[in-house]
Amino acid sequence: MCGIVGVLGNHEAAPILVEALKRLEYRGYDSAGIATVNSGTLDRRRAVGKLVNLSDLLVHEPLPGKSGIGHTRWATHGAPTIGNAHPHRAGGVAVVHNGIIENFKDLRGALNEKGITFQTDTDTETVALLCEALIADGRAPIEAARETVGRLEGAFALAFLFEGEEDLMIATRKGSPLAIGHGDGEMFVGSDAIALAPFTDQITYLEEGDFAVLTRNSVEIWDQRGAIANREKRQIQLVNARIDKDGHKHFMAKEIAEQPVAIDRALKAYLGDDGQLALPAELDFTKIERLTMVACGTAFYACMVAKYWFEQIARMPVEVDVASEFRYREPPVSDKTLALFVSQSGETADTLAALRYMDGKAQQIVGLVNVPESSIARESDVVLPLHAGPEISVASTKAFTCQLSILLLLALRAAEQRGLPLPDDMPADLRALPGLIHQSLAGETQITASARGLAKAQDIIFLGRGQLYPLALEGALKLKELSYIHAEGYASGELKHGPIALIDEKVPVVVLAPRDALFDKTVSNMQEVMARGGKVILVTDAEGARIAGDGTHEVIVMPQVPDTLAPILYAVPAQQIAYYTAIAKGTDVDQPRNLAKSVTVE
Ligand code: F6R
Repeated sequence: MCGIVGVLGNHEAAPILVEALKRLEYRGYDSAGIATVNSGTLDRRRAVGKLVNLSDLLVHEPLPGKSGIGHTRWATHGAPTIGNAHPHRAGGVAVVHNGIIENFKDLRGALNEKGITFQTDTDTETVALLCEALIADGRAPIEAARETVGRLEGAFALAFLFEGEEDLMIATRKGSPLAIGHGDGEMFVGSDAIALAPFTDQITYLEEGDFAVLTRNSVEIWDQRGAIANREKRQIQLVNARIDKDGHKHFMAKEIAEQPVAIDRALKAYLGDDGQLALPAELDFTKIERLTMVACGTAFYACMVAKYWFEQIARMPVEVDVASEFRYREPPVSDKTLALFVSQSGETADTLAALRYMDGKAQQIVGLVNVPESSIARESDVVLPLHAGPEISVASTKAFTCQLSILLLLALRAAEQRGLPLPDDMPADLRALPGLIHQSLAGETQITASARGLAKAQDIIFLGRGQLYPLALEGALKLKELSYIHAEGYASGELKHGPIALIDEKVPVVVLAPRDALFDKTVSNMQEVMARGGKVILVTDAEGARIAGDGTHEVIVMPQVPDTLAPILYAVPAQQIAYYTAIAKGTDVDQPRNLAKSVTVE
């Protein structure tokens, strides 16, 4: 995973690198480091933990120099220690790396045989040592880097910096994204364009296998066959918006609260004032026999909800899979399949690999992403931006509800094109959604109180049925990632097939049950829990509370909502339960341990 940056500039590099790394911290925050060349001398500073620790270190031990590279790490090989932090250095070579070098053990073995020893547990040190060994053998830095990269297997984006070379940087990628930013007599490198937004909006995206040689005034790029490549320089829309908590304690709280506005924006993008769906003309569901939706984590749960909508409303067969499984399943595909990839970041490695698999099968690729300049957006035939606005907190919230809102519009479009009646008052009812979300945010006070109890539990179960089943999974995912409490989501009807053995008075069970057609069945499952001493927290509407509230531990009352919209609305209490339980436990809400916002390794 990890984020990498580089600059060949006219000002001190360290503040530039730290500012760019700040924008890449979503890729990992186990450690951070920078290296510069100053009067020919290569030096580096590294710190364990969040970027702020590196910034503090730089106050006491400044690192001068106008050329530099930087890194923020999500540990893959080797614990998050100073020694394993990037940049890795061997002699006069410093390297930052995003990805995994799969053949590093073989390379290490070969270097060991030459008497070269290793200081760290990382795959990246191998790259620096190999390059340094080639320089020691007489290669010039560019040739040494080229030969090194030629021997690497796996997925990587790399930047190299060399002692004695203040106007040279190598940037190369295979599998992991890398962008070059063109300044005025300055050159930048970044894992994405957002990192470079404060410095330039002139971006060249490197393609698979590209090898770039940068100076302050030039970029030369070779493609994977070794031919000179002419890559487009594009002016990207500046994403240098001020990113702050806007008075909230955490980004997550801000992003939960922003949902009415974000959903309104997403709906307005795809639903005309006249109530007509306004989706790209290329999306033609009449020619499609099957929809394949692929994503990871929370985005995958959005796809699971959408499966109910597409099947029930548009009568369309749908396959949904997590990207890490889909890519290796080698599923057979017909030419009448539409492949839809859902991702907040647009950089998730498994989702991107699954997209490429389907692209290789000549499928129409639709990308539903929040970051319009992301890899998934760039590689999709049709891009549907989420319009959620920047999502900073690691746990996805407003992107999820925007994904759901747009997926519902797509299901309605599919039904319309297939000549099927839309559910009553759709899509007009959707206009009420931002207001309903706003009302449900008011449940916060009650949830804060429940969360204090939940924070004491060791295990928590979430139940839901039908389109609320994926919400039970999402509620459990959010809770465990934020509070580190073990939580599982189950389809209510599945409970008695095994998990009910877990139920006792110490296991709280959160039941997500709007008063819909399946309500009575969910309530029966809830009774089975209560009969075994389980403490039920029922999340339902006023009518549901009246019918089934007796005997429950707590009832969280939601606004009445049209059945189809319930999964979008019930995302809010699921998020708030996780958020306030994490607050009660005192965990790091915005940057939970071991996680990263964008998972760019498989
Ligand atoms: C959970 C969460 C993750 C992401 C997943 C996919 O709160 O945020 O499960 O949903 O890593 O990320 P994207 O949507 O960027 O592909």
